[in-house]
Amino acid sequence: MGVWVGDPSETNFSPIDSETVRASVRQPTNVVFDPSSRRIGLAGGGEVLSNEPKNGLKIGEKLYPLLGILPPLYPEWLGDRGFQETHGVRFAYVGGAMARGIGSAKLVIELGKMGALGMFGAAGLSPKVVEEALMEISSALDPAGLSWGSNLIHSPNEPALENEIVELYLRLGVKRVSASAYMALTPAIVWYACSGLSRAENGSVRRQNYVFAKISREEVASHFLSPAPGKILDQLVAEQKLTAEEAEIAAGIPLAEDIIIESDSGGHTDNRPLNALFPAIMSLRDRLIKEFAYDRPIRLGAAGSLGTPISVAAAYALGAAFVLVGTIHQSAVESGVSDSSRRLLAQAQIADVAMTASADMFELGVKVQVLKRGTMMAVRGNQLHDLYSRYDSIEEIPADQRANIEKNIFRQTLEEVWQQTVEFFSLTDPEQIEKANKSPKHKMALIFRWYIGSSSQWPIRGEESRQVDYQLWCGPAMGAFNRWVAGSFLEVPENRTIQQIALNMLEGAAHVTRAQQLRTFGLAMAQDVLDFPPTVLRT
Ligand SMILES: Cc1cc2nc3c(=O)[nH]c(=O)nc-3n(C[C@H](O)[C@H](O)[C@H](O)COP(=O)(O)O)c2cc1C
Repeated sequence: MGVWVGDPSETNFSPIDSETVRASVRQPTNVVFDPSSRRIGLAGGGEVLSNEPKNGLKIGEKLYPLLGILPPLYPEWLGDRGFQETHGVRFAYVGGAMARGIGSAKLVIELGKMGALGMFGAAGLSPKVVEEALMEISSALDPAGLSWGSNLIHSPNEPALENEIVELYLRLGVKRVSASAYMALTPAIVWYACSGLSRAENGSVRRQNYVFAKISREEVASHFLSPAPGKILDQLVAEQKLTAEEAEIAAGIPLAEDIIIESDSGGHTDNRPLNALFPAIMSLRDRLIKEFAYDRPIRLGAAGSLGTPISVAAAYALGAAFVLVGTIHQSAVESGVSDSSRRLLAQAQIADVAMTASADMFELGVKVQVLKRGTMMAVRGNQLHDLYSRYDSIEEIPADQRANIEKNIFRQTLEEVWQQTVEFFSLTDPEQIEKANKSPKHKMALIFRWYIGSSSQWPIRGEESRQVDYQLWCGPAMGAFNRWVAGSFLEVPENRTIQQIALNMLEGAAHVTRAQQLRTFGLAMAQDVLDFPPTVLRT
């Protein structure tokens, strides 16, 4: 490849350590070979020549054969550049939606300002509250042309609510939506995705609305990777929600062009490891692109258990066009949970998580991943689900067990809980009460769901008398993050701003990627080479 000529004091043939990598990331880096010691090293300064100099070396110079030159590497270049171009962001980094405004307007705004993409946590909030938050986000980010999105959660029991949220998104011009919990497609999601489709003069398709489809199973992924079903498109045209042209274009393109591959994560999760899931979805994507003869790229993002720069770098190395992070963002000062919750999260270690009963699909036995350390919620949620599975009514529960849950879990009688449940559903969904009056098992489910539902409100409100019952959705990423930041400024919960978390994850991922590039040349590596201690970074 030529030679490097320069001052020998600028060469380094020792095993490459973390500091050397840190200095190399944003610089062109020469890799050289020393024939006498047969070692590979780095050389800075000096000159790179295609041939040996004819008139010899100057005093103090040394010449080494050049093995390669690495160009500078920036965090902005991680992932697929097409992601940044399509979505108008600086980094291929997404803040995942976190329900009930835990993924708050503030969090989305701060991510937007640093050039990442934040998704507002709209699930579990009324359309009015969602609208207020989106107005706040849009007035902070839209004037500067910065991007953002919001969550659209499938609500099988409340199709009207799903429609209302889509209407709101279309009215406010929300361009990016993270779609979750879809086992099958609904007219609402198709309406959103296909609204505004048009063709440019050269015939290429222009999309107005982007769906980021969150999936952890192949069969769900294939719904989003295929064109919208003809039946739903016809229905939407008949209802005048889509034009014939939008429907015609939709029939030839994938419903979603950004897929979030969700591995073992906080909250709802199939607990699949990213290394197994990602390649499987990638081959499905590649097959469907051929089958439908698409001429548009479909970007795959990696989510789940990303809590350190090493895991983020590994996700990009798997082929992720972008990464999506949830759990560790919940510990950011801008997230919607209380200070007491953040302090608990900051103490978590990798194994401090457990699966427990979910409020939304309690009867089906669906579980969510939550924080275990410092709270009894996981155990208590499972205890209630166990009673629900074993008995057909509250009255069947043995007296001592009933007394135990009334004292320790509910802190009131089940009769009192039922009265509150009736009050709540009389206002929101009276059919539930009618159903419970006919089915004692359903009545038991509603009573038990009072606890599961309340336990996710307490950590948001910071109800300290209920800290032992906090339901904090949390994946193993939290423990990995806490270990990484131990001893640094990010160990302190008050210093965990979303921008410092995200910037350090990205800068650290660039560091790890650079170290791996150097490793492929055969350079010897010191043990600490992948260490990236967090530092205060500028946007
Ligand atoms: C507190 C919390 C709430 C969440 N709420 C939602 C939600 O409402 N909708 C959704 O699509 N995903 C939700 N998620 C999942 C995240 O958007 C993201 O996909 C996931 O957290 C990524 O994995 P990680 O937790 O390992 O980072 C939530 C996650 C957490 C931790």
